[in-house]
Amino acid sequence: MRVLSGIQPTGEKHLGNYVGAIRRWVAEQHEVDAFHPIVDLHAITVPQDPEELREATLDLAALLIASGLDPDVCTLFVQSHVPEHPRLSWVLECLTPYGELRRMPQFREKSAAQTSFSVGLMTYPVLQAADILLYDADVVPVGEDQRQHLELARDIAQRFNQRFGETFVVPEGTYGELGAKIMDLQSPETRMSTSLGTELGTVKVLDPPDTIRRKVRSAVTDSGRDVVRAEEKPGITNLIEIMAVATDETPEAVEARYASDGYGRFKEEVAEAVVELLDPIRLRYGELRGSPDRLAEILAQGAEKAHAIARETLARVHERVGFVTP
Ligand code: TYM
Repeated sequence: MRVLSGIQPTGEKHLGNYVGAIRRWVAEQHEVDAFHPIVDLHAITVPQDPEELREATLDLAALLIASGLDPDVCTLFVQSHVPEHPRLSWVLECLTPYGELRRMPQFREKSAAQTSFSVGLMTYPVLQAADILLYDADVVPVGEDQRQHLELARDIAQRFNQRFGETFVVPEGTYGELGAKIMDLQSPETRMSTSLGTELGTVKVLDPPDTIRRKVRSAVTDSGRDVVRAEEKPGITNLIEIMAVATDETPEAVEARYASDGYGRFKEEVAEAVVELLDPIRLRYGELRGSPDRLAEILAQGAEKAHAIARETLARVHERVGFVTP
């Protein structure tokens, strides 16, 4: 089974990225044939400082390896190293109705936050479809916020297959039973996000233990004192989910253990569990980030593996579409 899931290099990675995506990739890498691009082409849909983007790309490679992704087991690469991504994206763009992209929720959210935005911000999900379809991925493990992008990738694959004959695998998005939507600790109605969330409400994977403790302790909780999940209690519900993921338990088990302890003590325990979850990553990250040559080597090896597959898929697509072989 082929798996593909990407992640943007910019914006510091947070607990939502880790729990909703990275951790799941690490857990399943030995059972599947996994491809994980660091999607720098997606990052430039909004303005980036070139030097910061370059650093962030290497930072993320180190973070993913520190989190447990093994570059000898899965294929870890930088999207811009494989030129077939934008080349396939172009062909797919020409099959995608403008109205469909304009209505995408993430585009509306991001474009509304700016007075002027690039065309790339709108075609972003087509490039994402190209990432997936280039590798004939069966499964795409992502967080809830990517659901519409996955639906679009499926539609594009089906549309292409209908028009030109069976060419692409129609991919399936998979979402973790727990942790597919980690919420901001300060405003638990919105998902945790470096670009859209609050600083105090966003636990970064590389936050030192004391910062994590401070953020979790100051998490907004709801009225009452019972540690139980409820729709009208998004703050405590989010903390229960985080605790369950961090300790590998069911939310019911967490509720049973802390039900009558009150919010204060519960938050202390959640903070410790999150520190235990993330601290080993921070320590390994420090070692890896200090070896840029080793990182470059790993990424070159990943790009080579990815390129071999992408090249064949694009040739198949060009042939179907009617381009003359060069
Ligand atoms: P990105 O970089 O924003 O996020 C990476 C992964 O983290 C998940 N995630 C979350 N999960 C749970 N709770 C949250 N609060 C939370 N915030 C983020 C995301 O769902 C994602 O799985 N467009 C994609 C990158 C991409 C991609 C792809 C993904 C490009 N090509 C192909 C899959 C397949 C993005 O911006 O993810």
